[in-house]
Order: sequence, then C-alpha cells, then structure tokens
Amino acid sequence: MKIALVTGAYQGIGFATSELLMEQGYHVIMADIQDCGEHLPAMAEKGHKASALKLDLRDNSSFAKIAADIEAEFGKLDALVNNAALLVDFGISPLDIKQEMLRDVIEVNHLGPFLFTQALAPLLIRSGAGRVVNVSTQVAQLAQLSDMNSPLFDDICAAYQTSKIGVNANTVLFAKAFRDHGVKVNSCCPGWVETDMNLDELPDYGDDARPKTPREGADTSVWLATLDEDGPTAGFFTDRTRIDW
Ligand SMILES: NC(=O)c1ccc[n+]([C@@H]2O[C@H](COP(=O)([O-])OP(=O)(O)OC[C@H]3O[C@@H](n4cnc5c(N)ncnc54)[C@H](OP(=O)(O)O)[C@@H]3O)[C@@H](O)[C@H]2O)c1
Repeated sequence: MKIALVTGAYQGIGFATSELLMEQGYHVIMADIQDCGEHLPAMAEKGHKASALKLDLRDNSSFAKIAADIEAEFGKLDALVNNAALLVDFGISPLDIKQEMLRDVIEVNHLGPFLFTQALAPLLIRSGAGRVVNVSTQVAQLAQLSDMNSPLFDDICAAYQTSKIGVNANTVLFAKAFRDHGVKVNSCCPGWVETDMNLDELPDYGDDARPKTPREGADTSVWLATLDEDGPTAGFFTDRTRIDW
C-alpha cells in the first residue's frame, strides 16, 4: 500500500489533498497542529485509510521520533506533502515587520518543512519512488514580485513571501540531493482557494474572480504527489503547468 503524509491536513487544502489521496488508495497520515483524529471516524466510514499525527512544525526535536514511528509502522513513505503554513502578515512591509513574527512564519513555513523533509528522507528513499510536494504560492514568485507590471507586484506580506521563497529553495536543493534516489521534489501554487487562511483579508483579484474550492486547489498537489517515473522534478507548477520561480 502507498503511504502519504500531508501536513496542515486538519482543514483547507491539506484536508482536501488528504481525501483525494485516500480516494486513490493511499493510507494518509494526516498531520497538523490541530487534532486530525477528529476526522478519522468519517474517513473510516467512507472506507478510507488514514491515521492522525499531532505535529507542530516549530518543534523540530519531535521529527526523529515521528520518522521512527512511521518506519516502525509502515517501513517507508511514498509521498510527503509539505502543505501547512502560516499567513499572518498580509500588508506588512519589510520596513515594519517585527522580528518575532518574521521568525515564527519562517520557522513554520520554511525551516520546519526543511528539517521535516530531512528527517523523513530515509523513508522517502526506501519507497523507491518517493515524492515531495512543497506547497508554495505565486505571491512569492520572484518573477512577479520584481515585475512592476505584474498584478502581484503590490501584494506585500514580508514574512510569508520570504518563507515561501525559502520553500522554493527547499524544492531545488532537495530535488538535487535526491536525484540518485528516485525521489522527485516539486513546488506548487494552489491558486486562490477559499480557506481559513485567506477569509479575513483577500487580495483584489477583480469582480469576476472566484476562489477555488479546496478540492480544486489540491489538484496540483495530488498530481505532484502521485507522479510516475517520467514526471518532473525541481519544478514550480500551478494548474499542473510549469511556472517561473
Ligand atoms: N488558500 C489560498 O488561497 C492559498 C493560496 C496560495 C498558497 N496557499 C498555500 O496552501 C497551503 C494550505 O493553505 P490553506 O489555505 O489550506 O491554509 P489553512 O486553511 O490555514 O490550513 C493550514 C493548516 O496548517 C496548520 N498549521 C499552522 N501552523 C502549523 C504548525 N506550526 N504545525 C503544523 N500545522 C500547522 C493550521 O492550523 P491552525 O489553523 O491552528 O493555524 C491549519 O490547520 C499553505 O501552504 C498556503 O501557503 C494557499
């Protein structure tokens, strides 16, 4: 059986990613700072295979034990979806952001997933065809942020953007490190998705714009988590299409 671990699985895009992977027959380890155990009865009723993992990405001292527990129970990991993230600094400029907020966001969004991937690397290699998906955002696409004509040029969230540029660095670095081990690593942007993360302060995407549902937003993550041998590595994708960094 294929085993996947999805972070931020309690709600939003992570929950949808988990369900879509279960629908493809994966056993999904649903990891979140919140208690995913609440979802297990409903998953079992649908005939899905899932387990719950309490994870705080700021607590990297817990990662070795998590890896040991997964090894003991499953012996391998076929897909890791680094999806959990914090967005708490919408509109805050790099001139104003407080160090504590910057550190917290970078720890959850960039440093945590880096060390979590490192801790789970032996299990991904053991899969023989491990897949890592790093959920990023076009709001951190340097090609757009540095283009004064881009509609994203004025979207500022100093900590979130810094952390997600770091996520894209994780993708390129781990893709190269895993090159000879059959493990593919890619970044994706889910697009604008209706979740708790963005309900308070939404960017202006125009009158006709509508957010995606979480299941629509999860599509590219699931595609990258289930790539076959010919699939890409070290890329950045949205709607299953490659985009610039
Ligand atoms: N929604 C969008 O439009 C959009 C657009 C572009 C990219 N994205 C990306 O898509 C991914 C999923 O976003 P979403 O909108 O589904 O977010 P969400 O609904 O806020 O879900 C994120 C989950 O991660 C959890 N989490 C937060 N801090 C954590 C930590 N330290 N350790 C473990 N889990 C933690 C959250 O718990 P709490 O609720 O307790 O914090 C929450 O359950 C993120 O990487 C986000 O940056 C989203």
